[in-house]
Amino acid sequence: MKMEIMGTGSELAKGLLTNDDLTQFMETSDEWIRERTGIEKRHVSLGESVADLATEAALKALEDAKADAKDIELIIVASCSAEDALPCLACQVQSNIGADKAVAFDLNAACAGFLFALNTTFTYLKSGIYKNALVIGAEVLSKIIDWTDRGTGILFGDGAGAVYVEAKMQDEDNYRFLQRACGAKGSVLSCVNRDINNPLYKSEVSKKKVVMDGKEVFRFAVGTIPACIEELLSINNIDKEEIDLFLLHQANKRIITSIAKKLGTGMEKFPTNVEKVGNMSSASIPVLLDECKKSGLLKKGQKVVLSGFGAGLTYGASVIDF
Ligand code: UT7
Repeated sequence: MKMEIMGTGSELAKGLLTNDDLTQFMETSDEWIRERTGIEKRHVSLGESVADLATEAALKALEDAKADAKDIELIIVASCSAEDALPCLACQVQSNIGADKAVAFDLNAACAGFLFALNTTFTYLKSGIYKNALVIGAEVLSKIIDWTDRGTGILFGDGAGAVYVEAKMQDEDNYRFLQRACGAKGSVLSCVNRDINNPLYKSEVSKKKVVMDGKEVFRFAVGTIPACIEELLSINNIDKEEIDLFLLHQANKRIITSIAKKLGTGMEKFPTNVEKVGNMSSASIPVLLDECKKSGLLKKGQKVVLSGFGAGLTYGASVIDF
């Protein structure tokens, strides 16, 4: 079965925060942030919700594919920053775009969320249950960031990316994936969402902001992702040299450079946009995918590795014949 990416779309939040803007309220510098992360600026919400950004990205992906929302059978939104506990983001997007026929649900695997959503979609398409899907990664992380913490406040941005895919008959699969989780390391990147509060029990009121051991996350990414990609390629008898592009979660430029180095592959195969948009968690990979497709870097016929890693800890990689 072939999972064909028929269209891509993305939407960034309207506000723009440069590194110099951050120095107005945080003890940091443009030089430090560029050197340690590669990031120059990031977009933050001026009131747009996660569902707003997801909807815009979805509409652009459908337009790119020349597809009709009425025909969509499955919508999955990957996110860890929805404003609303209920209804889920995917149902909000379904309503906003009029995809009345679709089943819709969310998936949270943090920065690996879009990858896991695409893997889930592939499995549905391969089983024949659905013939097409809209897969979205969307975040407004700025609301869960502690803007007094320079260890996290410099990293994140808000945006959404979407792909519309269709199943095409073909003997060989064009998509293969590996996905893993390491819950025992969950505390290195966490965010308490809601406190327990009922007539019998009240938990201490928590901060409800992202807390991160940056060094540990860095070590985890650089330690696991090269091996994960190599394992994926080896299981599927694919030579590293056959890969045209590696589209990685845009966490930090240094992480991406280290992964490329460990794989022995030149940075020209690792496009980045973290410089301009920061780390957008589950939106990171689909926004980069959209940019690469629109710029002509990503072309039909190429073999492309996608890889995500983040809170959970969750991580994985997939390879697609684009
Ligand atoms: O999707 C996954 C999400 N998470 C990540 O990708 C995070 C991965 N980790 C990282 O990107 C890096 O660990 C950070 C960028 C967060 C931090 O970089 P680092 O090289 O690990 O710095 P550090 O935390 O070891 O701090 C080194 C020094 C410290 O000062 P002292 O103790 O040496 O005097 C920090 O206080 O840099 C200081 N520092 C800063 N200085 C200026 C930490 N953050 C900043 C800052 N501006 N923003």
